[in-house]
Amino acid sequence: MPGSIVVGTQWGDEGKGRIVDVVAKECLHVVRYQGGHNAGHRIVVDGEAFALQLVPSGVMYDHVTPIIGNGVVVNPWVLLEEIDILTRRGVDCSRLMLSPAAHLVLPYHQIADELAEAQRGDAKLDTTKRGIGPAYADKAARVGLRVEDLLEPMTLRARLISVLDDRNQYLRMVHDHPGIDPDELADKLVTEVAPRIAPLIGDTVGWLHEALHAGERVLFEGAQATFLDLDHGTYPFVTSSNPVAGFALVGSGIGPGAIDQVIGIAKAYTTRVGSGPFVTELVDDIGDHLVERGAEFGTNTGRRRRCGWFDAVMGRQAVRLNACTEIALTKLDVLDQLDTIKVCVAYEVDGRRYDHLPHLRSLHDRAEPVYATLPGWKTPLDDVTERWQLPRAAVDYIVFLERQLGLPIRYVCVGPGREQYIRFAA
Ligand code: GDP
Ligand code: IMO
Ligand code: MG
Repeated sequence: MPGSIVVGTQWGDEGKGRIVDVVAKECLHVVRYQGGHNAGHRIVVDGEAFALQLVPSGVMYDHVTPIIGNGVVVNPWVLLEEIDILTRRGVDCSRLMLSPAAHLVLPYHQIADELAEAQRGDAKLDTTKRGIGPAYADKAARVGLRVEDLLEPMTLRARLISVLDDRNQYLRMVHDHPGIDPDELADKLVTEVAPRIAPLIGDTVGWLHEALHAGERVLFEGAQATFLDLDHGTYPFVTSSNPVAGFALVGSGIGPGAIDQVIGIAKAYTTRVGSGPFVTELVDDIGDHLVERGAEFGTNTGRRRRCGWFDAVMGRQAVRLNACTEIALTKLDVLDQLDTIKVCVAYEVDGRRYDHLPHLRSLHDRAEPVYATLPGWKTPLDDVTERWQLPRAAVDYIVFLERQLGLPIRYVCVGPGREQYIRFAA
């Protein structure tokens, strides 16, 4: 059946949004399956940049139905503002469909996220402080509020009173915080939010099943990435959802048979925002050069991203974890002024070589990179549209990565613009 997944293979910001924008040209439905407004997916169309947080990147095409699946956590105010901004800029959001089972991110989640970070001090996780972790924690603890609760004002109010009873006591006693008035919050949700969210709610599961059975291509858009995954990432420096491809099924309500393509998105080097291990990190002039040349600042948060060389050990693990069928390589143009380029091909821990990611965190934390060094091409790539126009050293770099990852690279991006990519034939 015709399902494609786009998944980040590193620590996020690989360019998932821009690849979704390329692939969605040939899809009828684009579904976000996890995460919340911690995501920032930037797309550049005709020189105009759009930074999406909750609305699936497929919204940019009139032929696409954008769907927010049950696995996403939704701050309704952020969603409504995003829709308003997009609409004002001429993007038609009227087809957007929202799962009733998606959980709500509410103001007390954001407060909890901020307070938890402050309390961690130097050991902070460097979250986006948007309440994502606390919202998923409430979902798992079965005290979360779901989008469909907005349709039932009495139940909504009662649930808020019950949840906030505990939370407010804690806020007042431990943090000297005045707490949140449940009635005021319920009034706001019922009067400001519900009337605008209600028309977006639809049978997303039924819709997707019918589409897939009719043979219509559905694209599943991951947020965050493999190594921010709650189970498979660099725990505890991870997000609170499962970005890996397997969760596309859970987060949208379909089965494994529906998927025939998993596109792993990899930047031509590595970046990470926030704390946590980073074996190939460059804390030197080259790192600064990549930040500057790659404009490596958070799409919505503005935070500076840490930069380093491509890590093929992590790449191979991501290919396994997601069962990738192909790779899309982004930001190759960012490397075009370097004399030489390194790729981490293995790790070394206590004198032992690891070709695959060590299974214990303690080993990963102490890993040293084993590098291969390749020549740079020192030629701008941003106007390249065909493979034959690429300099020899750039082709060699791509082929080297394909061998390292054991998969074909099908897209190579050489600039942020919608047309700035090269399609490599199968
Ligand atoms: P996402 O979270 O994976 O969707 O990625 P982001 O949108 O947060 O970050 C990727 C950034 O790189 C954005 O600013 C994109 O506009 C930009 N970008 C994507 N592909 C390319 C590329 O091939 N070259 C350059 N120079 N920029 C790119
Ligand atoms: P996209 O979809 C990069 C990181 C945060 C922090 C950790 C936990 O644009 O690739 P959270 O707020 O989720 O509890 O923060 O995860 N993080 C991201 N880093 N890209 C993202 O999304 C991210 N979403 C969360 O920086 O380290
Ligand atoms: Mg991003």
